[in-house]
Amino acid sequence: AATGARQPGRLRFTAVAPNTADALTVADGYRSSVVVRWGDPVLPGAPEFDFDAQTSRAQARQFGYNCDFVTFFPLGRDRGLLWVNHEYTDEELMFRGYPGGDTAPVELIEIAMAAHGGSVVEIERAGRGGEWRLVTRGRRRYNRRVTARTEMRLTGPAAGSELLRTAADPRGTTVYGMLNNCSGGTTPWRTVLSGEENWNQYFVGGNGVPEDRKPFLARYGVDTAVAVPAGSRRFDRADERFDLARHPNEVNRFGWVVEIDPFDPDAAPVKRTALGRFAHEAATTTLTRDGRVAVYMGDDGRFEYIYKFVSDGRFVPGFDRHNRTLLDQGTLYVARFTGDSPAVEIDGSGRLPADGGFDGAGSWIPLVRGDRSFVAGMTAAEVLVHTRIAADKAGATKMDRPEDIERNPVTGAVYVALTNNTRRTATDADEANPRANNKHGHLLEISERGGDAGATSFGWAVPLVCGDPADPATYFAGYDRGQVSPISCPDNLAIDPAGNLWIATDGNALGANDGIFAMPVRGPERGRVRQFLTVPRGAEACGPLVTADGLSLFVAVQHPGEITGASPDAPASHWPDGGAAQPRPSVAVVWHPGGERIGS
Ligand code: FEO
Ligand code: CA
Ligand code: CA
Ligand code: CA
Repeated sequence: AATGARQPGRLRFTAVAPNTADALTVADGYRSSVVVRWGDPVLPGAPEFDFDAQTSRAQARQFGYNCDFVTFFPLGRDRGLLWVNHEYTDEELMFRGYPGGDTAPVELIEIAMAAHGGSVVEIERAGRGGEWRLVTRGRRRYNRRVTARTEMRLTGPAAGSELLRTAADPRGTTVYGMLNNCSGGTTPWRTVLSGEENWNQYFVGGNGVPEDRKPFLARYGVDTAVAVPAGSRRFDRADERFDLARHPNEVNRFGWVVEIDPFDPDAAPVKRTALGRFAHEAATTTLTRDGRVAVYMGDDGRFEYIYKFVSDGRFVPGFDRHNRTLLDQGTLYVARFTGDSPAVEIDGSGRLPADGGFDGAGSWIPLVRGDRSFVAGMTAAEVLVHTRIAADKAGATKMDRPEDIERNPVTGAVYVALTNNTRRTATDADEANPRANNKHGHLLEISERGGDAGATSFGWAVPLVCGDPADPATYFAGYDRGQVSPISCPDNLAIDPAGNLWIATDGNALGANDGIFAMPVRGPERGRVRQFLTVPRGAEACGPLVTADGLSLFVAVQHPGEITGASPDAPASHWPDGGAAQPRPSVAVVWHPGGERIGS
């Protein structure tokens, strides 16, 4: 392009400075507004939100708490459906004088259960630009709440197996509710995939299960030492199936990827067992070269793994009855990363590996295909239910908390956010996880062989080692560190229509609020990280989602005011309602009033 010419997709905004303001602060020239807040009416007849008069009946019809994954399905040009995950609840912020789960009135536990899950809400464009608002009038036929009590189906090779049967469900095919749904994805047939992440924390009675079952619980972080772990929400007091001592298999019915049809509010969500069971972060689909469906998934735990599922069958546009079976039959793989340089830690000396970067080769190790297990001593159902144990045996590479994964449709590269891992030592640092005491996290870029998501081998590189750019133990793809924003703890990712990477953070360890950042992934500005927005005090930034027209960016502001010691009588945030109001997790939209594309 000629000097000064406007290059399409070029990011030109001025970075927002790190701050600790109790505000959603967006780049100069952009505006933001709140689309939907915790407690806003979703279903017909839902009451307006009243913080001091909340009931479980109201909550089950209102927008839930702690919004995380956001996705958008257009209904024509000016209407659309927003799907939002409600990951978990902060009872200390939701209820005045909350005494803890052991003694709280059961109605408060029921409110918390109803505030989990997800929501479908209809939204409409406000004006002709990128602003959107909740539809609050007329018939909203798609609006839906999914909660910890919604009836769901279990499908795939592990459905019906001994491990999934309970007294209430002797067939092992029906479960109620989904828990701790963090990030997710969508399918080419326009459904939602939603990942159950830290579901281990909802069960009590782990000390009361037979000894030979305890290792399977412990590998997933379920407490097997005591009857009631400290800080438990005590869902068992509302519903005894959450007591492992009485219902030891109920826990095996959580930890899945859940498929939800946002266009049919009566359709039961489906837990797809072929995709394995772990702390599911996201589920990003793409098509292989021969038209099968690949799903990339992270297991968010320290030293956990990156997975990929590839369907046996091909996606057939328009043939939904067929497409909706694709995620029940296929191969589940786990990733192994091999560096190609003598192990070099990024240690503050500014040294890079001899070949100039942290990179190497990798392979996808098959664990199970349909009813056939590739792991010695484990059946297919066991591999799918105890996937972490299968991956341990397969010799997969232990990563620094794999969070979101996104494939860049412009370049074909796959990006993985590794949020942090302070337990990584200099001894176990490797080229794919190159920093000891990794407080700030890093990114991986995977290039499948031949650009084919169906490949079983790949190349990889680390384009970003996060932190304060003044710290030499950071890396911004070789870009001048004097011109980038500090960034810490990458979590959710998005790709804009031009192929730029957008990064949301959770748990900024640099002393400022979390936010959303943009980074070109190719050309001379590769690695130029710039902060586009900051979220209010105590919040993490989720979503994010740049719409296909490039005009809107949706951000889920999760847990504003979640600061140790904060309570309704001493709130740490008043966002979004302001004044003396209580904080409310909300989805906001950012747009440019002049109709410019996001980031341009
Ligand atoms: Fe819920 Fe892994 O973030
Ligand atoms: Ca290398
Ligand atoms: Ca996350
Ligand atoms: Ca996170």
